[in-house]
Amino acid sequence: MSKKNDIEQEQVVTPWAVEFGSDGKIDYQKLTEEFGCQEIDERLIERIERITETKAHAFLRRGLFFAHRELDEICTAYEKGEKFYLYTGRGPSSESLHLGHLVPFQFTKWLQDAFKVPLVIQLTDDEKFLWKDLQLEDCRRLARENAKDIIACGFNPKTTFIFADVSYMCTPFYVNMVKIAKCVTFNQAKGIFGFTGDSNIGQIGFPPVQAAPSFPDCFPHMFGMNKKSLKCLIPCAIDQDPYFRMTRDVAHRLGGYKPALVESRFFPALKGESGKMSASDPTSAIYVTDSAKEIRNKINKHAFSGGGATIEEQREKGANLDVDVPWKWLNFFLDDDEKLKEIGEKYSSGEMLTGEIKQILADCLTPIVEEHQIRRANVTDEVLDMYFSIKPRVFLDLFQKYEEKDGSWTVVETDLSKALEEKMKLDEEDEEDTTVSQDKNDEEAGCAIGAPKSDDWLRIRKERLKKDAPTEGSKSALKKAAKIKAAQEKKEAEKLAKAAAKEASAAATMS
Ligand code: TRP
Repeated sequence: MSKKNDIEQEQVVTPWAVEFGSDGKIDYQKLTEEFGCQEIDERLIERIERITETKAHAFLRRGLFFAHRELDEICTAYEKGEKFYLYTGRGPSSESLHLGHLVPFQFTKWLQDAFKVPLVIQLTDDEKFLWKDLQLEDCRRLARENAKDIIACGFNPKTTFIFADVSYMCTPFYVNMVKIAKCVTFNQAKGIFGFTGDSNIGQIGFPPVQAAPSFPDCFPHMFGMNKKSLKCLIPCAIDQDPYFRMTRDVAHRLGGYKPALVESRFFPALKGESGKMSASDPTSAIYVTDSAKEIRNKINKHAFSGGGATIEEQREKGANLDVDVPWKWLNFFLDDDEKLKEIGEKYSSGEMLTGEIKQILADCLTPIVEEHQIRRANVTDEVLDMYFSIKPRVFLDLFQKYEEKDGSWTVVETDLSKALEEKMKLDEEDEEDTTVSQDKNDEEAGCAIGAPKSDDWLRIRKERLKKDAPTEGSKSALKKAAKIKAAQEKKEAEKLAKAAAKEASAAATMS
């Protein structure tokens, strides 16, 4: 058998296990072919930059997020003014996160800011319970602990919802799960995930749990009920692709959009690309809890080097960047393109020594980790609850247009994407605010987009609209009040004009 065939047989990627090819590498091109996704090209990156008016994140510029499914469709819709929501997640199996765990979240944060869209984050405490030797209660606790690290990445609390499966298993979520489950046979699941007769039946039943959040009606407090008309984009590592391949296959049978995907390579382990970063070996990874000293020590002692074995050899032959972990890690975390290029040139030519690039890496990572630790320390239980809260957070009454007709209020503007856009604008205005009154407003019981509107609720809204302009409070509340007032005045003027026209025409017919 040829070497190539050996590699083809050995490389196995599932959401739970990654087996490298016999050369110790993942053949990503082969993987995209096998999975049936597309590679992200320069044109798509430029397009994203153009429509978001934002410079592409280093992960995108450097091909670390390298594959996609229908990301171009998301862009086309976005260009036409249609919004979408982001969905990502984490399986909470360890106390603290290592740097590789931050990668998808840092990228998701960039996507959220660039596209200005809402985000849901799933913590699969159930998945980890089913696959790992852990107690369910521990998985649930880890979900909350890990959420603190996720929040420390800086997500907007107004537009980000974090949930753990076990506690969020509500009716709309379960409804989607059951529908998905019915569409997939055991044989199909075996083919997609590699289940065997030895898999426990919880594992076999799990994929719909991760699939369901791809449909917006799992989150009535954000997107309303019975609403499948919002597209979903999922940033994830490529090993999660099987879940969403399955989801895409069944989406039309649920009446929903196929979720789009943007997928990353694996983060290389400290001791070498194909190694494992495992919690049981603390020297195998750098954790977000590590001190500056630990970071330096780990890099110096354990980072796999592609440099020459001796100074002379390095000077003569230069480093092999293909296998060098400090170089690979700098590609993830050093944002400065110019500097990175210079390091690459000097190190591969032998002008720079291994000790030097390791020093640069330690200097680059230390502030990232230290700043993360500060932000995480600020995530109190109260802050955490804000993200887990299922209070309606995308409010109809903030932006939907109503008209009074024959004494009752009717919605004249139901466009969800426009509504979301408006909501995002309001959030931006709020950011300038120092007062809390807008937040108070947001907490009032309201109605999520698309949710059924009771008469009662319409009456509340009508009363609220009639209220005088707030005398104190946020700028945006004042602006909103001014807008409402202007609209009322316009209506009055139109009424008068109509009456005048009527009179005039009556006068004309009389004469
Ligand atoms: N299964 C993922 C893990 O073990 C967690 C996850 C759930 C996820 N939903 C997701 C990851 C959506 C990416 C996108 O880490």
